[in-house]
Amino acid sequence: MTTTLEPAVPGAGRPAGLREAASRVLLDNWTGAATVPSRALYPHQWSWDSAFIAIGLRHLAPRRAQLELESLLAAQWEDGRIPHIVFNPSVPPGAYFPGPGFWRSSTAGRRAGAPPHTETSGIVQAPVHALAAWRVHLADPAESLRRGFLPRVYPRLTVWHRYLRTARDLGGGGLAAVVHPWEPGLDNSPVWDAALARVAPAPAGSFHRTDLDHSPAADRPTDLDYGRYVRLAATYRDHSYDDARTPHAFAIEDPGFNALLIASEHALAAMARAIGADPREHLRRAEAASAALVDRLWDPAGGVFLARDLVTGERIPGHSVSGLIPLVVPGLPGHVTAALLGTARGPRFRLGRVRLVPSYDLTSEEFDPGRYWRGPSWFNTAWLIHLGLVRHGETEAAHRLRAQVLSCAYDTDFAEYLEPYTGEGRGIRRFSWTAALALDLLVSYGGTGGGGPAG
Ligand code: SER
Repeated sequence: MTTTLEPAVPGAGRPAGLREAASRVLLDNWTGAATVPSRALYPHQWSWDSAFIAIGLRHLAPRRAQLELESLLAAQWEDGRIPHIVFNPSVPPGAYFPGPGFWRSSTAGRRAGAPPHTETSGIVQAPVHALAAWRVHLADPAESLRRGFLPRVYPRLTVWHRYLRTARDLGGGGLAAVVHPWEPGLDNSPVWDAALARVAPAPAGSFHRTDLDHSPAADRPTDLDYGRYVRLAATYRDHSYDDARTPHAFAIEDPGFNALLIASEHALAAMARAIGADPREHLRRAEAASAALVDRLWDPAGGVFLARDLVTGERIPGHSVSGLIPLVVPGLPGHVTAALLGTARGPRFRLGRVRLVPSYDLTSEEFDPGRYWRGPSWFNTAWLIHLGLVRHGETEAAHRLRAQVLSCAYDTDFAEYLEPYTGEGRGIRRFSWTAALALDLLVSYGGTGGGGPAG
């Protein structure tokens, strides 16, 4: 891979027409109560997608942004989990795999409290929801107050966090574990390779991958990866989605997932204040989880956070963008944030010298510039790193990253992800969170969208 042609600030600029084009994507992907990530590849409602989408949608239609989150929360299970997919019954069953017939939430998930009349998946995704809900509130506080938005979502989000803090503390150290590579959202990251190698793949002929009908195979996870994803999900389902009873072959403490939980806990504190509730318990939890994050996942030698494999008890050596996401956590020790910023600018991620932030270590042999989460740059992680840069007063770097997000989103027709060196769009186009997050950075310059350090 040649790097000699990298400009100092690739993709700087602010394209005219971005607002209209991004709005069009979000309008076209709106189904009436929620937004699909993509009409073709992901034709239902996805959990962390909806949170990121709401962050952008609030600038167009605050009420619709509220509905986006509320329709997701309506499918919350009684144990508190927010499922990673809420299936739209009007979409043909074969349009996406694994669909409702695979997960069978209303029967297999009954003991865990899955809703009886809505089909969902049984795994979760990163808890970015409170962070989003607080920003949605701030976009139009009067409308939020009129509709009682915060009093309705705050208790549900509190129960969601409780689920992650209790049922998912599989390591007993005060962090939430993920039990499937789709949960932290970095599906085929090289960080998961060793843990996934323990999983016997479901036989290739036992399922049909619909993703390959819409996206080039070279941009997607391999068949072997898919066989393992299917096996892990089926095992969880066959143990009634019971976290304590399932024999987890994959149980990992991921830094990005936990950093978002902590940032969202701060957002819950801000919401508590706004509705006259006591924020102190949220702040205490955020502080305890921050200490656990540093204690269990910080790697001083690498200047980055690492995932911890709970089956082996070891930290996983690979460097992914997830290890930089703790930049969003308020109040981390200064030496940690200074080292993280150095790593972001260093040879592994080359912040400011390649497009956005690569999903995996550019210096690693496992780095692949085009394949899903094995190297390409994504807009949601860029948005989060931008938020972190703003929080740490890195104004110039934040400004450059914002300019890249705006131009790369527009130039690629809102690609799902990008090759970091060339900026070429990969995956599908007209991807909802790409449009939403570009819109957010276009409109709310500064990145916090009024959230301030608390949210
Ligand atoms: N990211 C997974 C997919 O590609 C599931 O959330 O379908």
